[in-house]
This record gives sequence, C-alpha cells and structure tokens, in this order.
Amino acid sequence: MGKLSFLAGQDILHMNQWTRAQLETFVEVTAQMHHQQQKITLDRKVMASCFFEPSTRTRLSFESAMHRLGGQVIGFSQSNTTSLEKGESLSDTLRVIGAYADVLVCRHPESGSARLAADATETPVINAGDGSHQHPTQSLTDLYTIYQCHGRLDHLHIGMMGDLKYGRTAHSLIDTCRLFNMHLHFIQLPGLELPPEYVTPLKHHGVPYTEHQDVREILESLDILYVTRVQKERLEHATDAHAYLEEQRITRTLLNRHARPHCRVLHPLPRVNEIATDVDDTPFCGYFQQAANGVPVRQALLAGVLGKV
Ligand code: NCD
Repeated sequence: MGKLSFLAGQDILHMNQWTRAQLETFVEVTAQMHHQQQKITLDRKVMASCFFEPSTRTRLSFESAMHRLGGQVIGFSQSNTTSLEKGESLSDTLRVIGAYADVLVCRHPESGSARLAADATETPVINAGDGSHQHPTQSLTDLYTIYQCHGRLDHLHIGMMGDLKYGRTAHSLIDTCRLFNMHLHFIQLPGLELPPEYVTPLKHHGVPYTEHQDVREILESLDILYVTRVQKERLEHATDAHAYLEEQRITRTLLNRHARPHCRVLHPLPRVNEIATDVDDTPFCGYFQQAANGVPVRQALLAGVLGKV
C-alpha cells in the first residue's frame, strides 16, 4: 500500500477531512517529491482544470504539477467559454467534464460549489477554492512551507491578519493548525473579523487563541505571520479595513523592530498593499517560497488521489 493510499479516489474538499497523521505523511511525501526521491508517472492520466474564477498560482501550479509527472491537462480558465453561458447548470457541466478526466480540479465563486461538483461526478474532485469557504490545497502548501521554515509543526505561534471574514485560505489554515496544537493570534480588522463558525470550534477543541486590533501587540511572539488581502470581490458592505491594513502595513522596519529573527511572513498571494516590497529580500520573506511549493504539494496530491503513491 502506498503512503498516500488514503487519498486514492477521494474528493479533496475541506481540511476537516484530514487527520494529523495523514497530514504528517503528506508533508513527508511532498518533501520526497520535491527532492525527486519519488519516481512517479501519471502517464495517460488526464486532469480537468476548471476555473470559474481568476487564478494564477493555483491553476498554473496544478497544471505544472500534472505536466511534470507526465500527465495531460484539459480545461478552461474563463467560464464564459463553457456552456454555462448557454444556460447549462454547473452540475451538468461538471458531470460531463468528469467523464473526460481522471481528476477534476475546480474553483468557483460560490461557497459549497466544491461539494456540488463532488456530488455531480464519480471522478475525484479537488477543491481549488470555493467562494469564501475553503481552499484546502493552499493549506497543504502553507503547512509544507511552515514545516520547511521551522522543521516542526507543533506548538508554533501563528498570527493571522487581513481578511479573516471572507479569506478562504485563512479558514482552511485554521482548521489545519488546530490539529498541531498551534497557538493562533487573530489580528481582527473592523468588518472583516473571523466568523463565529470558525471561532466556535476553536473554543470547543480548547485551541489557544488571542484577538488583537494591532499587529504590533503580538508580532514579537510569532513564529509565522500569515497575511491575506481584503477579498474585495466578496465584500457585501463597504469597510474601512483597507485603511487599517494600510496603517499596519508589514514593512522591513516594522519586522526589524518587532519580530524575532526566525519569524517568517507568509501570504497566499496575490498581495495588494499589505506587505511592502522591501520585505522581499529579507530573511522574513517566506511567501515566494510558499508559492513555489505549490508544485511539489500538488504533485503529491495528484499522485495520491490517482492512487500512484
Ligand atoms: C488565494 C485565493 O484564491 O483564495 N490565492 C491563492 O489561491 N493563492 C488568495 C486570494 O485570492 O486572496
């Protein structure tokens, strides 16, 4: 049995479906893939890349991962080129695409669309982001990067700042950190606070967390600062969060003054204005390494779902 046989034929929809032991094994296999210690081929396998919402890193790292393993890619990155434009339902569209591929990677602006996709087809579905709900493959990438940065996952102090209301990467990561006894520190922006459905399970599971209005209150305690942009395409009401984020912009000076030397700044990207470019060539910068890690992480995931590892 392969190390990731628990993934074979599975839909990957939500971080809650993973156990701690599975995540540890996944990180181990990703590291082996990354250092080319795993000789795997996905020859003759087809991945359907279905992006109904803009994407740079997620789509291209999935496609690169598939190509690097010898597989083929079909798909689209603009939904106006599909028959949805003619009035076809999302469910019918995905059911049909499922018959053309061995695995279907789907991003869609509606929360819950990944579940709908999984119900529409027998082909395994990987959620590449469903509205403000979940983004599990980003969390796998984040977890692998955190492991690379600190050599461990347990008991780290993770600060999360930016759009905690609509940011699906933050939501998925919270569900992940919980399993590793991490301490969470939320820098809450007005109008973009973490919704109760993410806070309640933390209380239920006894996960230590603190809340702050200013990153400077907590920066010196952090091992990781995870920053996200305001999801302006999902905002229901005007917010002055931009002004707060601007005021607390992460700069080289701020990090030199308040962060411990081993602290790493992560961001799923794209950044808009949250992190100054003068952080890019400091040791604090982890976000470009994080983006690059999308390829080995998605190689491991595709190989696992397709039953090859
Ligand atoms: C994120 C996303 O799409 O949720 N990007 C990504 O996948 N790396 C973050 C964002 O768009 O803000």
